[in-house]
Amino acid sequence: MTDATIIDGKGFAANLRERVGAAVADVTKTHGLVPGLAVVLVGEDPASQVYVRNKRKQTVEAGMQSFEHSLPADTGEADLLALVDKLNRDGTVHGILVQLPLPDQIDADKVIAAIDPDKDVDGFHVINAGRLATGGQGLVPCTPLGCLMMLKDRLGDLSGLDAVVVGRSNIVGKPMAALLLGESCTVTVAHSRTRDLPAVCRRADILIAAVGRPEMIRGDWVKPGAAVIDVGINRVPKEGEEGKYRLVGDVCFAEAQAVAGAITPVPGGVGPMTIACLLRNTLTAACRQAGIEPPAL
Ligand code: GUN
Repeated sequence: MTDATIIDGKGFAANLRERVGAAVADVTKTHGLVPGLAVVLVGEDPASQVYVRNKRKQTVEAGMQSFEHSLPADTGEADLLALVDKLNRDGTVHGILVQLPLPDQIDADKVIAAIDPDKDVDGFHVINAGRLATGGQGLVPCTPLGCLMMLKDRLGDLSGLDAVVVGRSNIVGKPMAALLLGESCTVTVAHSRTRDLPAVCRRADILIAAVGRPEMIRGDWVKPGAAVIDVGINRVPKEGEEGKYRLVGDVCFAEAQAVAGAITPVPGGVGPMTIACLLRNTLTAACRQAGIEPPAL
């Protein structure tokens, strides 16, 4: 059997960003609407700073306005809630993203609950989780949305396929399962208590790995020809190189590639799709707030 096709998430994301940019130019020209995204960062976590910088760059490149709020690490919950309230009422802000994780003194659930659900471009608000679970029109979390777009691009109609989602987080696993169910897949959500996880994974036509455990999913857990989507981004020490790291997914890529039909690499797979989908969500949110039909992207 030949090796799996590698799903080029980086290229797919660049293409999606371009399509979002063209659609932004169109709504700006036709309706005078300039979508605006506010990103709030509390503290100086280096990984978060990198994400926020990339978000700003890509937002501006897509022709949207970027509003950045960097607050000190010792910001109190009330101050952050006051900022969210201000952004909720600001008509030039169509999307609000509060970068996670937040410092210990701030209850992240409370902050997410304070964001206007129609501006919640992360799709983390319980209203959006509820809309997704019940098939309503909301905003969908960016990472699972990116995974679904790549799967549909690769496989076309997903109906009737067996999908196994490994991981049950609110940010990836649960919304991913809801999206796949919405596409009429037969969905299994597996997790740390699942019995005989390798056997469960081997049933999957679509295998989504979102557990945060480096290379946990082995080649012999993969059904021949399956589509494997690796959401994991894990830093592991480089052997023989003190202080250096390499990025690996939740799937042992070298093993799985020999069995799967298609697979996303790490890096360059799911990761780049997350910000591209954030831009898409911001455009969707802006159009809905302006009473315009959002473009199909
Ligand atoms: N931290 C890492 N990824 C994300 C994300 O997608 N959204 C938010 N709000 N914080 C994050």
